[in-house]
Amino acid sequence: MITANDFDVSAAWHVAAPYDFLRRLRREQPVFHSEHLGAYVLTRHEDVRAAYGDHRRFSSEGSLTISRSLAQETKDVLGEHGSFLSSFVANVDPPTHTRLRRSVSRAFTPRAVAAMEGRFRELTEAAIDRVAARGGGDFVADLAHTPSAKLTARFIGVPEEDEEFVKEHVKDWFQLFLSPQPPDRQLVLARSFLVYLDYVDKLVAARAAEPRDDFTSLMTSLIGTELSHREVVELISTILLGGNDTVPNQLGNSVFRLLREKIWPVPARAVQNAVEECMRIDGASLGSFRYARTDVEMHGVTVPAGALCLLSTDSAAHDETVFAEPERFRIDRHNADAHMTLGYGIHFCVGAALARLQLRTALTVLGERLPNLRLVPGPPVAYRTSIVGRGLTALHVDW
Ligand code: HEM
Repeated sequence: MITANDFDVSAAWHVAAPYDFLRRLRREQPVFHSEHLGAYVLTRHEDVRAAYGDHRRFSSEGSLTISRSLAQETKDVLGEHGSFLSSFVANVDPPTHTRLRRSVSRAFTPRAVAAMEGRFRELTEAAIDRVAARGGGDFVADLAHTPSAKLTARFIGVPEEDEEFVKEHVKDWFQLFLSPQPPDRQLVLARSFLVYLDYVDKLVAARAAEPRDDFTSLMTSLIGTELSHREVVELISTILLGGNDTVPNQLGNSVFRLLREKIWPVPARAVQNAVEECMRIDGASLGSFRYARTDVEMHGVTVPAGALCLLSTDSAAHDETVFAEPERFRIDRHNADAHMTLGYGIHFCVGAALARLQLRTALTVLGERLPNLRLVPGPPVAYRTSIVGRGLTALHVDW
């Protein structure tokens, strides 16, 4: 019999298909302590939502920096950067959060986001042009990543010739802080991370000297009034990550789902809700961490002050009390967007509109250009190992 002790987000089955297990937990142990994770886990939609909405009791401070898992030697190499992200917007509480969020939001106005649609369409077309004649390939490597990575690079102001470099280093950084790694590997990743930080530092200096029409220039112009230098470096680094990883992961998950459901191409009128239902049923993020500020009593369990908590949005998105028949994909589900894959409350994803725009545009263009896209029979798909994200390592298709 499976018990709450089996809650192991790093196990392959847990990323791929944890839903029977999570359903039992929601019913029998909606809040429990996971030994594997070293955290209390909240599984019900209403509890996850309430915790996201209550930043006084569920603090974000330090919640992204899981550096407890780093070996001493790695910490030595990282030096002052061992607690990197300490001033990133998702890792702080008000009033610091309010100030940082105000600055970042300036770059994500509805007009600025809408202006990126044409560019993203072109990038998606170009990615398809490169592989179309081949007749098939790996959707993840060939089509999912490049358009988002290039759009984000352009948005941030990373020169085209540096895009590959940035992509590789961002990946290392993500692995270092967010997935358990053996000590040797940690050292390699830590060195790569420092090289990357140095790069971003130089980019900020270049834009301070000569501003352009990009995110780095806008944020750099706020140094000294609204933001510190370090805050700007952390913002740029993490937003590069947001664009390089989350959207492609969500796109891969979505296409995999739509092809299995034999809904391809997605009819134009259904694209918007399809994007929400895909984010609900196969979310690219699995949840967010918080620290309990005080003892919190929930369902007979006391979460002690100082304890790490995982708000499991993955479980919440499959909560049968909110979503009827949650394991069924329903393209016309009326409340599909009640998922919290993009978070909820004051830290709600600042790039949400941009993420949604990319997903809608990608499904539309891919449907137009590759109407015969289908899965190729082969080995079962595998997911990347991460405690907060879900993304396929490969997805073999032909068109
Ligand atoms: C499908 C793609 C995406 C997913 C699933 C996703 C998910 C999330 C989630 C769950 C949070 C809340 C974190 C928390 O409460 O602790 C968040 C926050 C954030 N996201 Fe996204 N995200 C996506 C795309 C993006 C993009 C494209 C950008 C930027 C270009 C971005 C930038 C951010 C930032 C800066 C925050 C922090 C906001 C704050 O703390 O106020 N995200 N995202």
